[in-house]
Amino acid sequence: MPELAYRMHTEAIHHVIALAMKEAGLAFSNLQAVAATRGPGLEGALIVGTVAAKTLSNVLGIPYIGVNHLMGHLYAAFLTENPPEFPFLGLIVSGGHTMLVRVDGPSQIVRIGTTKDDAAGEAFDKVARTLGLPYPGGPAIEKAAKTGNPKAFHFPRAMKHQALDFSFSGIKTAVIHAVEGEKAAGRVLVVADVAASFQQAVIDILVIKTMRALDQFPTQHLVICGGVTANSALRSAFETAVQNHQVTLVFPPFAFCTDNAAMIGAAAYVQYQMEGPTAFDIPVSPNLGFPAEAVEVPA
Ligand code: KG4
Ligand code: ZN
Repeated sequence: MPELAYRMHTEAIHHVIALAMKEAGLAFSNLQAVAATRGPGLEGALIVGTVAAKTLSNVLGIPYIGVNHLMGHLYAAFLTENPPEFPFLGLIVSGGHTMLVRVDGPSQIVRIGTTKDDAAGEAFDKVARTLGLPYPGGPAIEKAAKTGNPKAFHFPRAMKHQALDFSFSGIKTAVIHAVEGEKAAGRVLVVADVAASFQQAVIDILVIKTMRALDQFPTQHLVICGGVTANSALRSAFETAVQNHQVTLVFPPFAFCTDNAAMIGAAAYVQYQMEGPTAFDIPVSPNLGFPAEAVEVPA
């Protein structure tokens, strides 16, 4: 509900800024720059954040930096003791995106694969709703999956044989059919088994495609980021998958996987060094992404 999200942002923004300043123990006079997400996302929400940031910038006489939210997710991996080195390969898995990128330099990012429909996190949220689990679905499914059998149901690994793109809408439908099938057969639905089987299918396809990208573009570092990377089963699967590869896996700390301001600050810091401040007349960009490169990969 974009209208509601927009209204709630206008109600929350000043409290959020005041709370952030209080928690950081800073006065406004201590600030050296102010950054905000300028896309991708819901237009109304982006406008509230950027207008607040530009106002602070104007009043305090400090630079404003408009950041690509997806770049923020990648830069969350720099909030670690052992950050990645350029060039590296990245997988961004969030509620809105599932994307493979080649990061050739600090702000040279090329999209080499993306979802054709739903994002992986979105599939977690929709499947959770089908199973009567709370929002956000990811943590709820992860918890339920811990006691379930990942082989109880077989869910599709969509587009397994095609390049570096993803599809997650089929798996959501397959889960609905499985749930209905259990009911029709008079069996008690074992939510943990559905959750574990679904989670395994999503992880499998993310690992398959990412390892395929790594074969195509071998790099020293692999960054896996975005809200879904808060999932411990996903992290272990990637750790196992890279064992026979000459690559260092970097995850953001758990606290910086789901949306947060620190990652926007980290990306802004680098962007400011490369490009300087963002002009006030650069608009928000609800569909902001990265330039895409078509990649032919043998299956
Ligand atoms: O990056 P994020 O906070 O927001 C977007 O930019 O979209 O990602 C949110 C998504 C939600 O779909 C949520 O269900 C998922 O990340 N998520 C998880 C887990 N924690 C959050 N998915 C799987 N396992 C988790 N533990
Ligand atoms: Zn995000």
